[in-house]
Amino acid sequence: MESPRHDSVRAIRWCGDALELLDQRQLPDHEVWLRLHTVAEVSDAIRDMVVRGAPAIGITAAFGIVLAVRRRRASDGGAWREGVEEDLQHLLRSRPTAVNLRWAIEGARALLDRAEGDIEERLERWARGVHDEDIAANRRMGELGAALIEKGGVVLTHCNTGSLATGGYGTALGVIRSAWSAGRVRRVFADETRPWLQGSRLTAWELVRDGIPVELIADGAAAHLMRTEGVSWVIVGADRIAANGDTANKIGTYQAAIAARHHGVRFMVVAPTSTIDLTIAGGDGIPIEKRGGEEVLGCGGRRVAAEGAEAWNPVFDVTPAELIDAIVTERGVVERPSTEGIMRLFR
Ligand code: MRU
Repeated sequence: MESPRHDSVRAIRWCGDALELLDQRQLPDHEVWLRLHTVAEVSDAIRDMVVRGAPAIGITAAFGIVLAVRRRRASDGGAWREGVEEDLQHLLRSRPTAVNLRWAIEGARALLDRAEGDIEERLERWARGVHDEDIAANRRMGELGAALIEKGGVVLTHCNTGSLATGGYGTALGVIRSAWSAGRVRRVFADETRPWLQGSRLTAWELVRDGIPVELIADGAAAHLMRTEGVSWVIVGADRIAANGDTANKIGTYQAAIAARHHGVRFMVVAPTSTIDLTIAGGDGIPIEKRGGEEVLGCGGRRVAAEGAEAWNPVFDVTPAELIDAIVTERGVVERPSTEGIMRLFR
């Protein structure tokens, strides 16, 4: 298949005996690759945000499990399964909101339960498949999402949902890539995405590199942008979607959705079905990660807040389904999401 244009970035590399990750904490200043040999290193890399973004976390975990099984089988003899289960529990605790992590762990458990033949080889093939299928899903979502955007579209995105946050191509950013390639979009705006700056550090880096012009805005400028610049769609990814369509995504997504509804701007969520958690009926059940206050109190590793000030730092929020016009998945589009519409994807 011809490789789509505007798609040069990959941030996860499996080397057969190790996992290489592009260290996203150092972008855009430095392009540094880390080589991980153990599942403990993989858990730390997820916790510390060397790799981030829900699908990328799931893929990284899948390769981490391959490393765990190999090591436990070499060192723990007949008790290797208990050792692997400990590793899986540790991995699961590395970040709480993105359900793709649990999805990968459950996929590996199912494979291990059916352990026949060469389990290590089958697990490695499965992990490679998780990576490849994510890229294929993103390309499909790119087509489906781009088809919703009328020619001349002006879009706003939040956080980073591109190749860095996935196996490649991206979810919301994949839709923007596809729409740009198809000539449907004339302006791309990206929120800087305080406090971690995924928008200005990562989304801008990817888009500039792939020749897609991007204009950054302060998160607080989003409503004014919608009022004055003819925004047609806000397009975001998701870390977990509840059965009714309520969507957890990067902090600030919810207020962008409220502003979009007020201004008649449509709101699109783009996520693979591995991000949908049917065990949770609505958004109130989604665990929201809180991170250290220093992320809010500082910028670029330097404290900027007045000494003595403290911070409250939830890093995700939940956008109610009623504010979402379309959820785009690799299995199809759910318009005006509801439990019924989401369930249709799984029939
Ligand atoms: O804290 P992060 O950077 O892992 O948060 C990432 C997001 O919120 C993304 O929007 C989401 O994972 C979708 S990525 C395709």
